[in-house]
Amino acid sequence: MDRKGVGVRHLFLLLVALLAGTSQLLVVDANSWWSMALTPIQRPEMYIIGAQPLCTQLSGLSQGQRKLCQLYQDHMMYIGDGAKTGIKECQYQFRQRRWNCSTVDNTSVFGRVMQIGSRETAFTYAISAAGVVNAISRACREGELSTCGCSRAARPRDLPRDWLWGGCGDNVHYGYRFAREFVDAREREKNFPRGSAEHSRTLMNLQNNEAGRQAVYNLANVACKCHGVSGSCSLKTCWLQLADFRRVGEFLKEKYDSAAAMRIGRRGKLEQVDKRFNPPTPEDLVYIDPSPDYCLHNETTGSLGTQGRLCNKTSEGMDGCELMCCGRGYDQFKMYKHERCHCKFHWCCYVKCKRCTSLVDQFVCK
Ligand SMILES: *[C@@H]1O[C@H](CO)[C@@H](O)[C@H](O)[C@H]1NC(C)=O
Ligand SMILES: *[C@@H]1O[C@H](CO)[C@@H](O)[C@H](O)[C@H]1NC(C)=O
Ligand SMILES: *[C@@H]1O[C@H](CO)[C@@H](O)[C@H](O)[C@H]1NC(C)=O
Ligand SMILES: *[C@@H]1O[C@H](CO)[C@@H](O)[C@H](O)[C@H]1NC(C)=O
Repeated sequence: MDRKGVGVRHLFLLLVALLAGTSQLLVVDANSWWSMALTPIQRPEMYIIGAQPLCTQLSGLSQGQRKLCQLYQDHMMYIGDGAKTGIKECQYQFRQRRWNCSTVDNTSVFGRVMQIGSRETAFTYAISAAGVVNAISRACREGELSTCGCSRAARPRDLPRDWLWGGCGDNVHYGYRFAREFVDAREREKNFPRGSAEHSRTLMNLQNNEAGRQAVYNLANVACKCHGVSGSCSLKTCWLQLADFRRVGEFLKEKYDSAAAMRIGRRGKLEQVDKRFNPPTPEDLVYIDPSPDYCLHNETTGSLGTQGRLCNKTSEGMDGCELMCCGRGYDQFKMYKHERCHCKFHWCCYVKCKRCTSLVDQFVCK
């Protein structure tokens, strides 16, 4: 080959490298442990001799996760429950937004949108990791797992002296540690070169998984019960209790709103794009790619688009027709709405209601 040919080839390779570096759509594993939310998982003791072993049945596990599955088979059902809780909460928090956390019917669970390192992806990783901490901590308390029991958290200093500490608490300590092993396993197995786009995505996932786990851990609080003569509450027993998962969802939604944009720095670590802001703490969500607008159906980005979504004609927020339909306009139709009404209290003690039907306007994006 002559010199000119070599030069052209170099230029070509350089171009390919540049394009690969800027592309948002990385080839990430499409399978995820999230798919455990979609398959019913049975308790190990219900396994029939000769049936396929649990861990080979579960699709979407990475190598390390499969090993953990073999060691902790009784945990798997709760990981599935945790993923389910996380997905449900995600759908609740995003019900009025263009991207509504909808799932697709395969092991990728959320489809191709998760290949973009966006805020939405950050939230999804955090809330599902949180779901696992929540489910495992509770399962420990309920005596469902062989390797953990009630919380052994130390008595809080500020607990009044005459209150008893030591009811059976949610074991958030164990839940946090197990979720860290299990959820992060798939990220830690990867061996991408430092500074590569894939590596920065791995770092992003790890940070968001941690933020989700910490949310559950930090929101867990003291709960107490009264004892004593006819409810006099002269005696109290207290223990550590998980927060309602809705609280976790709301907390992480706030973290979503304030998520930090990051890029890979010179030393192969994530650094904040805008240095004027406070750097994110381990409780914060981070993202590395801008979000698509989620307006139109797009096979490449995995966006489902907002055609056919209900919107609110009078709202100026994300659920309003203007923003939800991305300016495409909307169709109006009438629908019957059934509700309980004219409720009356009857002595003693029940409430009787009527069923009312009204005609309401509905608006749907074009
Ligand atoms: C999962 O389903 C979505 C939408 O139906 C599709 O775009 C995607 O390619 C599928 N992924 C896999 C791994 O089958
Ligand atoms: C889908 O999204 C990609 C990336 O944003 C964009 O380049 C492409 O034009 C979109 N395709 C359609 C059909 O809108
Ligand atoms: C979420 O959006 C998709 C597509 O835009 C729609 O098919 C689905 O019904 C929505 N889900 C909910 C719970 O609104
Ligand atoms: C629509 O939005 C308005 C203003 O935010 C709100 O008062 C109203 O309750 C919403 N309607 C529905 C049906 O959600």
